[in-house]
Amino acid sequence: MKKIIIYYFSGTGNTWWLATGLQAQLKLKGHSVDCYSIETLAIEDLTQQAAAADHIILGFPVYGSTAPGPMLDFINLFPDSHTTQGISIFATQALASGDTAYEIGLKFIRKGYDLKQTRHFRMMNNLHLPKFRFYKPKNDARVDKLLEQNRPLVSKFAAAISADCTHIIGNNPLGHLLGNLQRKHIDRLIASASKELKTDASRCTLCGTCQRICPTGNIELSGDSVRFYDQCALCLRCYSQCPTAAILLGEGSEDEKKFPRYKGPGKDFNVDLLIQKK
Ligand SMILES: Cc1cc2nc3c(=O)[nH]c(=O)nc-3n(C[C@H](O)[C@H](O)[C@H](O)COP(=O)(O)O)c2cc1C
Ligand code: SF4
Ligand code: SF4
Repeated sequence: MKKIIIYYFSGTGNTWWLATGLQAQLKLKGHSVDCYSIETLAIEDLTQQAAAADHIILGFPVYGSTAPGPMLDFINLFPDSHTTQGISIFATQALASGDTAYEIGLKFIRKGYDLKQTRHFRMMNNLHLPKFRFYKPKNDARVDKLLEQNRPLVSKFAAAISADCTHIIGNNPLGHLLGNLQRKHIDRLIASASKELKTDASRCTLCGTCQRICPTGNIELSGDSVRFYDQCALCLRCYSQCPTAAILLGEGSEDEKKFPRYKGPGKDFNVDLLIQKK
């Protein structure tokens, strides 16, 4: 039996679904598995907690072939391994992520970990904005189909971790080419898209949901308006989960038919699952 810890960040639920599914599969194999959202983790416990694990797993959504800002900050704080612990990295993606998981894995090799697995899982896209067009997120049976397709892959991933296998994807010329191309532009794209955050006052009911769920503390209700600061990671949680689609990200985004909001992995998904403290 191994002691395994999963740390994940999820903007709109896909990576949460993968992380909790992986936890369940690993538990079935007899391992002791803790699963933490990096948003709700007490960071002062991290060094002791990570040192006690035999195997660490990191999961996040791909943002332009790298990890979201909050996950990159978390990785910077992550302690070195003095016992060459195993680590596995997985990323959820809408279409393509080049060498993302491997590129993040390199950071852990430099910290003394033994990189065992890198994996990418295709999930529903959550990103389709006027200035950042990808493909429209769907909130129908196509989400369930993707989840069904991923179940056996999650199970295989758990089996490989359990058996201590090494399986690295993304470390090839094509992966690096796509990864490097995307990484060149992603910070600028995120900064410019997040500057467009605003609310449609005629739709906003001042319910406070956006302030409550934002992982970076970027939103504040003040008086009868909603203020955005400059800490947005473009996770799209507020944009997707505002009950009245009052949060806008660019001209035209008020049209929900053209710019549908992604409601998460399946009809039972509830955004509170992303912010619950363990
Ligand atoms: C800012 C941003 C950048 C993204 N970049 C990519 C990308 O480069 N390739 C890709 O396939 N998906 C990309 N996506 C889509 C997400 O990675 C994908 O939908 C993911 O499963 C969302 O996970 P989450 O629900 O856990 O946040 C991007 C999403 C966002 C918000
Ligand atoms: S979640 Fe939407 S409706 Fe609620 S306060 Fe935020 S912008 Fe307004
Ligand atoms: S402001 Fe919205 S998109 Fe930006 S980090 Fe907060 S919840 Fe995510």
